[in-house]
Amino acid sequence: MRISDPNLAAAIAALGVEHRIGVSLSDKTSLGIGGSSDLLRIHKHESLPGLVRLLKQRRVPYRFLGGGSNVLLPDGELPWVILQLARQEPEVRFEGNTAFVDCAADLGRTVTTCAKHDLGGMEGLIGVPGTVGGALRMNAGAYGTQIGTFVREVQVFRAATDQIETLRGAEINFEYRHTSFAPDDIMLAVRLELPSKPYSEILQGIRICNEKRRASQPLNQKSAGCIFKNPPGGSAGRMIDELGLKGHSVGDARVSDRHANFFINAGHATAADMLALIDDVRRRVRDRYGVELEEEVIVWKET
Ligand code: EPU
Repeated sequence: MRISDPNLAAAIAALGVEHRIGVSLSDKTSLGIGGSSDLLRIHKHESLPGLVRLLKQRRVPYRFLGGGSNVLLPDGELPWVILQLARQEPEVRFEGNTAFVDCAADLGRTVTTCAKHDLGGMEGLIGVPGTVGGALRMNAGAYGTQIGTFVREVQVFRAATDQIETLRGAEINFEYRHTSFAPDDIMLAVRLELPSKPYSEILQGIRICNEKRRASQPLNQKSAGCIFKNPPGGSAGRMIDELGLKGHSVGDARVSDRHANFFINAGHATAADMLALIDDVRRRVRDRYGVELEEEVIVWKET
């Protein structure tokens, strides 16, 4: 969506928000899929309430994009203006076992920054792509670790109230790839409490997780990580693999040869290709196993 009204563009600029026109969003997602739209970069959290109020008043639909690593955007001109937070400095601040982290910070870098301060626990999250905010929204997890375990407080912009609020960790439900945040909440900063561990020990844990990941996941290809959540007690990857679907494709959207729950963009896949592949695989799993797989990747749909 383009912001063509010069008065609106001026009001956005007056809030200190950067307006980028006609941005190609395939460059901003790990799948390399997505059409284009105007992008509003928010450099100061304080400008968010005013910006959202303005967009609501002018009836401009918007969506918020984090690191773009767990999302499938539509093709063509998107029907929303895209909001994105710029990183704040310092990204991480320490007080004893507490790390105050900017939600636009890269998750992997945050894990290593904490490690350098002898704070561990998050080793399993090392190869999870995306931002800290994105990890919070989905309660990202890997190798037995979920980020929610360490959350003590989250500062969040709530579109429902147009306010920046601080939520205590205990008020938030962190479940398997699901949290109680509202869909239009925007995570701004988080307070994590992490166990003390010597740097060398954390580094060893990080190395082990990296090796496991390299051995089982297609890290050098364009993907959004796992496409489906694992059903209770089951494994989406194993079921898709057992159906012989590795390499199965629709256009350039393809089931990875390395891990069957990773769907990759092998060239110029469109959102339509990827959605058709998702539906096809879901149907085959349903027919064979009677299990309805639920997407893990967040699919942006017009509603
Ligand atoms: N398997 C196969 N074939 C495959 C893939 C997996 O037979 O093509 C089997 C494996 O041999 C294993 C089982 O399925 O016995 C589980 O596989 P894996 O250990 O790779 O874990 P996963 O359940 O597929 C989950 C998370 C990953 C996370 C890994 C490591 C989900 C949906 N996926 O994968 O997270 O990295 O564990 O902890 O929960 C993501 O969220 O995007 C993601 C990739």
